[in-house]
Parts: sequence; structure tokens; C-alpha cells
Amino acid sequence: MARTQVAIIGAGPSGLLLSQLLHQHGVDSVVLERRSREYVAGRIRAGVLEQGTVDLLVQANAGERMLNERLVHDGFALGFAGKSFRVDLRGLTGNAVSVYGQTEVTKDLMETRIAAGARLIFEAHDVSVEGFDRAHPTVHYSHGGRTHTLTCDFIAGCDGYHGVCRQSIPTEAMQSFERIYPFGWLGILADVPPPAHELIYSNHERGFALCSMRSVHRSRYYVQCGLDEKLEAWPDVRIWDELRRRLPASVADAVVTGPSVEKSIAPLRSFVVEPLKFGRLFLVGDAGHIVPPTGAKGLNLAAADVRVLYRALAEYYRTGREELIDGYSAQCLRRIWKAVRFSWWFTSITHKFSEDPFSRRMQLAELDYLTGSSAALTSVAENYVGLPFENPPI
Ligand code: FAD
Ligand code: DHB
Repeated sequence: MARTQVAIIGAGPSGLLLSQLLHQHGVDSVVLERRSREYVAGRIRAGVLEQGTVDLLVQANAGERMLNERLVHDGFALGFAGKSFRVDLRGLTGNAVSVYGQTEVTKDLMETRIAAGARLIFEAHDVSVEGFDRAHPTVHYSHGGRTHTLTCDFIAGCDGYHGVCRQSIPTEAMQSFERIYPFGWLGILADVPPPAHELIYSNHERGFALCSMRSVHRSRYYVQCGLDEKLEAWPDVRIWDELRRRLPASVADAVVTGPSVEKSIAPLRSFVVEPLKFGRLFLVGDAGHIVPPTGAKGLNLAAADVRVLYRALAEYYRTGREELIDGYSAQCLRRIWKAVRFSWWFTSITHKFSEDPFSRRMQLAELDYLTGSSAALTSVAENYVGLPFENPPI
């Protein structure tokens, strides 16, 4: 029977980053991923990294290409009432964010892990986890037509919202909190230059729109859409038209259109499960919490969980002490709830929830207040760039 110290389920950003940081601290892991390497590397998702995430990727030896290719953004814009207002992140916080796609982060982490001789098992099917209330949990899976069992000291559930780890925990042992929003985001990726140097989050009476990017040649746009919308109903030309209608005129005029490289629809949800540790099983990243993408916190929160967990496990293997392991859930949840609050609030002021004229006036008043108050702007900026960490890196 195969053995490792930490069995990591899922080779998304959380699983790969955790595996690499553990390796750097002499802790052995095996990563089991149900999809193929190409599928995981090709998935288009987040695009904005907090400095804390950038620092962790550099520390993990997976930051070289990112530091060369990222776009550093010192601000972003809020569009509303036909105008665009810049939030000066650097001026308000001394910090900035980096635009670098999750796809690239994942590729960099895979390369770093493979170069370090990692045991990464793609297309591992029927993964099941058991015995995490005992000293040596086990993981069963099938691969290449054969069934396998892996024993370990700990299991890290880095398997995303639909993963098997959270579902293996008895429901009475956890509490979940959820808010489902009555809309989704329709995303389009195209090889066209973005309309401005920085991102624009636009509130419009037809619904929210976001202009983002992956590089100076590749744009990523999102428009708020109904939950029951089908991609077939959105040929590129309809997305471009709808996007432009929802942007301030000066920005709309600068949008360059072109054929889509990728299109997708994602529902919006806030979700947290408590606690994030059950015996020797940890939930990490999307496996334990989801935020609506407004504010770009999902991937950054996942990295923040990893930052807490690798330190706790490294400390355990170095000294045998369990305090950090036992504190994992409480420490992560403090940051998670603040990011849930920020993403929920940012969603609430930028999206169309109803036709109610009072709600619309409230949104516009909030945006008007925000953009006229340095106190309110500082609050937005410090959340957007990422709240400080409780502990320095080890
Ligand atoms: P994931 O990236 O979900 O990785 C989990 C991995 O586990 C996957 O590779 C999956 O295949 C694997 N897995 C699942 N089940 C099993 C199993 N049973 N056995 C083995 N492996 C399994 N965040 C932003 O900040 N901005 C965005 O624009 C944005 N857009 C998003 C769009 C979509 C469609 C989704 C789903 C998420 C988006 N997010 C966005 C959130 C962000 O991408 C996530 O927060 C981030 O991917 C979390 O990383 P993770 O490693 O925790 O989970
Ligand atoms: C992107 C996604 C976000 O949710 C966000 O707030 C900013 C950028 C993106 O995919 O580029």
C-alpha cells in the first residue's frame, strides 16, 4: 500500500501550491486530480492577484514568469451614472494588485512541481477519503484501470466546491452558510487590446459589466446575465453590444471587438462551511468557501488558506506541536468572512437585483458617497488589495 505524509485531493491552485510549499519544508505529499493535466491547465478563471498571493508564489519558486509577465495595476475604475471614477489603490494603501491569469499560475505551479519530482496523479477517478478521525486516514482511487489505496497522516481537501472531501464529512459535524445570487456572469475572452490600462467595474441599469484583461493583447469581459441563460443565445456580437451599452461612453468607444477565444457562464454564490478541519482532514480554498467573483477574492483566499496550512503542517513535522494545526480553521475563517463580506457588498453595489427604483437610488447614493469620501475609498482599496496577514512568512 502506498504511503505519504499529506494526501492532497485536487490539483487546482490550492493543491499545487500546498504541495510545493510542503515539499520546500521537507514534507512529502501525493496530489490526486480527477481531470487531465491539459484540462486543469486550460481552465479560464480568475485574473487578479493580491500582493500576498504574488509573494507566496515567489516563495514557492513558481513566480519567475509571473514577475516578468504580470501587469501591475495601481488602481481600478468604478463606472456609474455614465462616468468613470478611478480608485487609486497605490495612493490609498501603498499597495497594488497584479493581473496574471489563474491559467498561468496553474501552469507555473505544475512545472515547478514536476521539476521537483512531485507525485501528481492526473485522471485519478472515484477518489474516496476515510478514517480522518484516526491517526492514519486512507484515500482510495482508481487510475489506469486499477484501484489504489494511499495511507497518510493528513488529507488536504483542495478539490473545489464540487469535490468529494467536504461531502465526506458528516453533515451534523459542520454548519454551512449560503447566499445564492439571482444572476450569473457571462465571460468572454478575446485577443483584443483592453479599452484602458486598468479594470473597470461598471454599474448600469441594464446590469453589471466588468472590463478585465490577461495582457495588453488579451481582454476578459464579463456581463451580468440571468441564471437560466444559455451560451447559444449569446453569439459574440450580442455580448459586445450588451457590454458597450453598460459601460460609460468614453470606455465603450474604446472597446475593440474580435472573435471570442472562450465564453462561459458562472453562477454567483457566497458559501462558507465551518469548521474547516475535521480530525485529520482540512478543507482548503473553494472546497470550504466560495465568494462571488466581484472583487477577485476566490483565488486569493485559496492561497491564504494554503499559507496557514503549510505553516501548520511544517511546524507539526518539525516539532510535533499541534497548536497551529488545531488553529487552522479559526485563523482562516477570520480572513474568509471578511472577504465574503467584501465580495457580497461589492456585488450588492454593482449589480442589478431588481427593477425597484428605491434600490437603484440606494446603489447610486452609495457609489456617489464612496467616490466622494476618502474614508470609504480607503476601506474599498484596503479590501481590494488584500487585508494584511496575521503572521510573517516562514
Ligand atoms: P479549484 O480551482 O476548483 O480546484 C479544485 C481541483 O480539484 C480541480 O482541478 C478539480 O478538477 C479537482 N477535483 C474536484 N473534485 C475532485 C475529486 N473528487 N477527485 C480529485 N480531484 C477533484 N475567482 C476570482 O477571483 N475571479 C474570477 O473571475 C473567478 N472566476 C471563476 C469562474 C468559475 C467558473 C469558477 C468555478 C471559479 C472562479 N473563480 C474566480 C474562483 C477561483 O477560480 C477559485 O477560487 C480558485 O480556482 C480556487 O482554487 P482551488 O484550488 O481551491 O479550487
Ligand atoms: C477578473 C475576475 C474578477 O472577478 C475580478 O473581480 C476581476 C478580474 C478576471 O477574470 O480577469
